[in-house]
Amino acid sequence: MVSTKADISPKIPPILHGGLPYLGHALEFHRDPVGVLQRGQAQFGEIFSFLLAGSQITVLIGPKGNEAFFRAPDSQFSAKEAYRFTIPIFGQGIAYDTTPEIMSEQLGFIFPALREERLQAYAQLMAEEVHTYLENWGQSGEVDLLTALNELTIFIASRCLIGQEFRQNLSNEFAHLYHDLEGGINLLAFFQPYLPLPSFQRRDRARVRMVQLISEIIANRRRNGIVGEDFLQTLMDASYSDGSALTDDNITGLLITLLFAGQHTSAVLAAWTGILLLQHSQFLPPILEEQHAVLGEVAAGKPFTLDRLKQLVVLERAIKEAERLRPPLIMLMRKILRDFEYNGYYVPAGGLAMVAPAVSHRLAECFRDPDRYDPDRFAPDRAEERKSAYTMIGFGGGRHRCIGQSFAYEQIKVIWSVLLQNFDLELVSQSYEPNYSTFVIGPKQPCLIRYQRK
Ligand code: HEM
Repeated sequence: MVSTKADISPKIPPILHGGLPYLGHALEFHRDPVGVLQRGQAQFGEIFSFLLAGSQITVLIGPKGNEAFFRAPDSQFSAKEAYRFTIPIFGQGIAYDTTPEIMSEQLGFIFPALREERLQAYAQLMAEEVHTYLENWGQSGEVDLLTALNELTIFIASRCLIGQEFRQNLSNEFAHLYHDLEGGINLLAFFQPYLPLPSFQRRDRARVRMVQLISEIIANRRRNGIVGEDFLQTLMDASYSDGSALTDDNITGLLITLLFAGQHTSAVLAAWTGILLLQHSQFLPPILEEQHAVLGEVAAGKPFTLDRLKQLVVLERAIKEAERLRPPLIMLMRKILRDFEYNGYYVPAGGLAMVAPAVSHRLAECFRDPDRYDPDRFAPDRAEERKSAYTMIGFGGGRHRCIGQSFAYEQIKVIWSVLLQNFDLELVSQSYEPNYSTFVIGPKQPCLIRYQRK
């Protein structure tokens, strides 16, 4: 039999049924993105497409699809084109608004702040911030866990990454500006970041004011010959490979980039770590025993060091299980600039490619009983995540892999160590569901916990 052209042509990925004209699956996706993606995976497996407000999105699921996504070169799968919504926040000429070469120079300015010797110094600073914050809690009460962790991680990030002076200058105004910038990140911004919406106008005003505030600190340092031991100073002294210095706008943009990449994501992962642990309290005793063994009696507690934190392996498994079940970034995107072929499928240039940690992390072929909370799956005798380099993708993979994972794990370990050492904690609500209306997916608020000082 003679084979026709159709027989030998690569197939196009199957398309998810049931979308509206033009809008496609936008409404359903807005309400329950993970549900849409899981439906696609259940129906079609590792590759399928769907329509979202005029854009065709091709989803790759599972270790092999994840690997293909992360290994595609920037010239084929562009992060820069997919993340244009960050430009009004990070600023022009920063991160995704530059060439890949300049972006990697800019990330190069950030690396020193996240090196092992800096992480050593941060351990104690983080613990100080947590202790100071918790002094306000009193003997017993209820708090919104996510709000508390958001505040705390802003303090930690600004103290450790930007410097003591910035931390001291953290005012209510800064918190409001930060909040307005965050309001500029939503599904709409992904496609139309410059619509004349009030939230986008607030975002733009907030950034202008943020540059003013940071420029004042920079000018004050320069005027008075103050030299800080911090990231701000590193940026003030840095220059690009062509010899040009960073402008105040550039410096502010990189500070905002760091805060945005690392603060909310860490707060959310810390919140899920605690919620899941308190929901499955049978996993608490070994964590408390480990705390005691590594850090000693609370009253005469040994200081936090990076080395001791690394020994908290049982706590680390609980964080990893939260990363698996509730990844803060449920999907990662790229713009497809050149046609792409995967496993006999052909995806033309022009659409978007997506991987979905929230779906890939729950595949039965990767994780035993995948919907069950079971931190011991990461114990050395099971090590389920080691089956492939791309089984766990909560921090991405390949050349755009997160540079702040160690910092994030470090601070979450410090936060939960201090909390568990000093408080008895219990959940207040029956259930804690994900809030899909924000870009980083935390628990819906109010998200209350009850505490009693030990
Ligand atoms: C729980 C906390 C965090 C999570 C879940 C997280 C997750 C991620 C993910 C998934 C990516 C890859 C994005 C993509 O491929 O499209 C990424 C990239 C990045 N992360 Fe994180 N992150 C966290 C904390 C941090 C921290 C603390 C910092 C810095 C202090 C940071 C800095 C960055 C930067 C600069 C990139 C861009 C790297 C590049 O494109 O080359 N992240 N992060």
